[in-house]
Amino acid sequence: MQTKIAPAVSSPSPERTVNRVAVVAPRGELGAVPLAGALWPAVLADRVAAETFDDYLDGLGGESLAVALVLAAPGDPGAVRVLRMRPERARTRVYLLGREAARLLAPAEDDLDVEGIAELDRLTPEALSQVIENGLRAYRALGANPLIPEYYLDATYNRIFDWFETTKWDWREVDLSQIRRELLTEPEIDILQESAIIEFGTLPGAHNFLREWADEYSFSSWALSWGAEEARHSLVQCRYLHEIGIEVRAKHAMYKREPYPMGENRAATLMMNIISESRAAEYYKTLARTTREPVLRKIWRLLGRDESRHARAFFVFCKELVDAAEENAVAAVQMAYVWLADRRGGVKHPAGFFYPHSSSSSGLRRIEHYAPVMTDIADRKVLAMIRNLLGNESARSVGDLKTYLRGKVA
Ligand SMILES: [Fe+2]
Ligand SMILES: [Fe+2]
Repeated sequence: MQTKIAPAVSSPSPERTVNRVAVVAPRGELGAVPLAGALWPAVLADRVAAETFDDYLDGLGGESLAVALVLAAPGDPGAVRVLRMRPERARTRVYLLGREAARLLAPAEDDLDVEGIAELDRLTPEALSQVIENGLRAYRALGANPLIPEYYLDATYNRIFDWFETTKWDWREVDLSQIRRELLTEPEIDILQESAIIEFGTLPGAHNFLREWADEYSFSSWALSWGAEEARHSLVQCRYLHEIGIEVRAKHAMYKREPYPMGENRAATLMMNIISESRAAEYYKTLARTTREPVLRKIWRLLGRDESRHARAFFVFCKELVDAAEENAVAAVQMAYVWLADRRGGVKHPAGFFYPHSSSSSGLRRIEHYAPVMTDIADRKVLAMIRNLLGNESARSVGDLKTYLRGKVA
């Protein structure tokens, strides 16, 4: 086995670690592979005799292997099979070097997750470098997120899509021409303005989700639907206000333009959203019950239902993380403890917490004041979800969350 240090990758690696590339061929043919003397910085290329490939992989230990170029006889992907017997090497990108003319991958090769075939006899060092570079990019693109499944449809997004998609409300369900202005109270109009403005805070939330979950496609795909629904929440309430002669200033949307800080643990971020969605659901449902104006009642009822769906979907993604690692469970409960405990200074909600310069924090307090029990109802539902998350029936109060956390850090 010979190790060489290699020249220049055109795209910078987001990972600082050294990437290994293995050229695997029968001992007598290793010299036929036109590997340039040096490839790129931070890339180590090894020529490995096929007969010793298993030992080579043992010798790598915990080191990554980004790309394997395997010279194999037609129909005999021997070394590839050796590699794929090791689940920890599933991320390694594989190219076959063949003596035959270029062809499509055979089903068996596809089953072994081979990226492509290069024709060895026509392979120049430059063409081989290009194959390796593509392999390195593909390897980096896969990332290290443990929740990425082998097949696209195995993702949670696919599992919840039908439920989420078929429970959307239709825009035509709301007929603003039917508003009965005389049934509206001044406090209701005030609250309607505040809730329209609070909903603007979901857009930076969507920005954040896509940044924070940049290494996967499942939650990110769902977050697009979620963001689209939240955008309707502002729009429908602003249009209602317009209909009764009140214009919402664009500055309120702009106040919430800056992104809030990225979370350190995704399960904790999701828990914060479970809480804010559950509370929003109760707020809207309570408001819908109290107003006498039928169109507004309809809108708030629909929005309350949306927020309940959002809380449930955030829960599904949170549970996936909690089931994967206990540190995620602890981080989620810590977040719940912070947001549920101590409401003396008013209910904490991301909309008010991250944008104190926006009027929504005071608006939120007005909404709470309007129906003080609804936060208690929402928080009881959150605690039920936490019990489900943990598979633990004992979490029935904020104090129980503290007890759980003490047990985990002790
Ligand atoms: Fe909303
Ligand atoms: Fe929501």
